[in-house]
Amino acid sequence: MAPRRVILDCDPGMDDSMAIVMACKSPALEVMAITTTHGNYPVDVTSTNARKMLDLLGRTDIPVARGMARPMVHDSPTDPFSHGADGQAENFLPEPRVPLCTLHAVDLIVDTVLAHPGEVTVICTGPMTNLAMALIKDPRVGPALAGVVAISGAFGLNEHAYANATGDTPQSEWNVYVDPEAAEIVYNSGVPLVAIGLDVATYFEVDFSDDDLAQLEASPRPEASFLRQAIRYVTGRGYDPYCTIIDCMAIGYLIDPTLVDTFKGRVGIETQGRLTYGMTVLDSRHHHTWGHLPEIDIARTADYGRFLTILRDLVLA
Ligand code: BDR
Ligand code: CA
Repeated sequence: MAPRRVILDCDPGMDDSMAIVMACKSPALEVMAITTTHGNYPVDVTSTNARKMLDLLGRTDIPVARGMARPMVHDSPTDPFSHGADGQAENFLPEPRVPLCTLHAVDLIVDTVLAHPGEVTVICTGPMTNLAMALIKDPRVGPALAGVVAISGAFGLNEHAYANATGDTPQSEWNVYVDPEAAEIVYNSGVPLVAIGLDVATYFEVDFSDDDLAQLEASPRPEASFLRQAIRYVTGRGYDPYCTIIDCMAIGYLIDPTLVDTFKGRVGIETQGRLTYGMTVLDSRHHHTWGHLPEIDIARTADYGRFLTILRDLVLA
């Protein structure tokens, strides 16, 4: 089967960096472009970090375009979780040699999608500002997209969803919290959207075994050392190892959609609430459901064992 064409829109970030590793090394995917956004760090930092990863992987053939520097309406918030001084779990990779693409990320998304109508999936592992702007800039983009797969939202499906809330309100997820207006545009666009929320993307069943860690340490691959250092960095700060690979679940889903079980649900984005700002509100009522809310595919569970095997095999390959 031909590989699936994807654009990875991201804000690296240690787990975005690992998503780049997975996507670029998987034979199931053809990464047409990496577009960067503000989010975990300012867009200059995320653009540099994306290029550092491509240098590390020897994939300097993939264009990296810098995107939006701030959310559509509000100011950029400060992330309560830190990805380290360099935004890459203090791996301190060398400065990138690969130059930035001369196009803005929004234009690269528009051009790439329109050049391959019906074929390109955009993967969002950061705030959705770039994609929302592309949908506004050229109304042909929405109908030409194959779909969107995003690390987005928290839907209250299990105890992890809100216990691990990453936004800076009690029940919001960071990517939506940073730019809820952009998320609202994408959710309402009519483009098929799979939202993998914190219910599934933060998980405690996942851990790296001693054998996994030994294999990462023994590997000559720099991406294996990158992940090993990231695990050391987060566990050293009292967090669980899954923090290093949250965004990778979107890549896992695209490599093999049977990894993630989804259901259809209507979701509204809270753009105003004092306590609920940035929340993805799932209308799960069995009566009087709001038909005006967009219906999307929401991740319910994942096969973490199989996911980790795919991830580990790709990192070590
Ligand atoms: C998201 O927050 C960011 O810190 C991670 O990179 C991930 O995309 C999870 O809420
Ligand atoms: Ca991210």
